[in-house]
Amino acid sequence: MLRILTSGESHGPALCAIIDGLPAGMPVDLNGINHLLALRQRGHGRGKRQQIEHDAAEPISGVRLGQSLPGPITLLVRNRDYAAWQGRMQPEPAAERPTPITSPRPGHADFAGVLKHDLSDIRDILERSSARNTASLVAAGALCLQLISAIGIRVHSYVRAIGPVEADPPDASELARLAAAIEESPVRCPDTERSRAMVVAIDRATEEGDTLGGIFDVVAIGCPPGLGSCTQWDRRLDSRLAAAIMGIQAVKGVEIGAGFRGAGRPGSEVHDEFEISDEHGFLRTGNNAGGIEGGMTNGEPILVSGAMKPIPTLRKRLASVNLFSREVVPAHYERSDVCAVPAASVVGMAMVGIVLADAAIERFGADSYGAFLRSAAAWREALAERGYTGARWSPA
Ligand SMILES: Cc1cc2nc3c(=O)[nH]c(=O)nc-3n(C[C@H](O)[C@H](O)[C@H](O)COP(=O)(O)O)c2cc1C
Repeated sequence: MLRILTSGESHGPALCAIIDGLPAGMPVDLNGINHLLALRQRGHGRGKRQQIEHDAAEPISGVRLGQSLPGPITLLVRNRDYAAWQGRMQPEPAAERPTPITSPRPGHADFAGVLKHDLSDIRDILERSSARNTASLVAAGALCLQLISAIGIRVHSYVRAIGPVEADPPDASELARLAAAIEESPVRCPDTERSRAMVVAIDRATEEGDTLGGIFDVVAIGCPPGLGSCTQWDRRLDSRLAAAIMGIQAVKGVEIGAGFRGAGRPGSEVHDEFEISDEHGFLRTGNNAGGIEGGMTNGEPILVSGAMKPIPTLRKRLASVNLFSREVVPAHYERSDVCAVPAASVVGMAMVGIVLADAAIERFGADSYGAFLRSAAAWREALAERGYTGARWSPA
């Protein structure tokens, strides 16, 4: 069983992820982790904070000589900005408390958080509710992506929509070819023309002091059939993926495959029929199921989409009520992103990596990396004997 715990405040000394349950002896590619952290920082519409931070993961436990040890791995991501915030965020008591934040932002964790924890300064909740925390999840997810990549599973993500601008999703078989274009796009959208329109929409929102949300897609290619389970609600792979994507701040909707779009169409138009070919064995005519049937992978690409609401911190300040004076006042504003859908798409990729690594470990074991690889290879052979060669299941 894979378990991940994160800690850290947005402007505290560092963020931390503890990853427990990865196989021992797994190669750990720190450059790969740092590359994903850098992708999370990019994207048109992000705030000034990203110019200060240069996120890098420091392993402080569980890695020796480039390989995982049997114990938990701890990854630290330091906050460079802490230097400027030390007086307000130091763990030691201060002679004088900094001026409290008292006007909750609509759409943020501020109001519910101060009531729940009986706080008088919104900073005491916003520092942890902040999506800065997604850096630790991305560091953990990058490790998980490395594990599943060794058994031939590749995870891609891209932005499908920002505000009112929507691009047609590319076919899953095109994603390896489009990977460079996605990384080069200022909004992680593979469609160059739509990318430009998305940038214009973000610029307009910035000028108006407003913010934008959007939709991102995560696609996992090469998953063997049989990960996940239909036997319990919480072991279903779709329920685990939905929880993981919904666990990203500001994500308010998740679709698997055709999702909501399938609900209004007849079954004859939605379900992916079977075919058989000499070369590939069992095949499907489409992938509206998004690679999951009965809570289990069916061998087709896994398609998960996340809908992100607009960022709740607006320069065009929304109405709030002071927690103490009860006067109507403008909501708190501090340095913020205008749009973070590109970043959320990277976090989505990491979250899908975490869920798939967990499901793969469940199936192939975690005592040792060698045994994990052997077990995955044996499963592939067993599938081939049953006529599933996996048109897209590309072994490592
Ligand atoms: C990558 C990423 C970056 C974000 N950046 C900001 C930001 O700069 N300012 C902000 O107010 N919210 C930002 N958010 C959204 C808030 O963290 C989120 O809306 C808030 O924690 C409340 O949670 P909820 O929207 O899930 O209810 C970001 C979310 C993500 C995924």
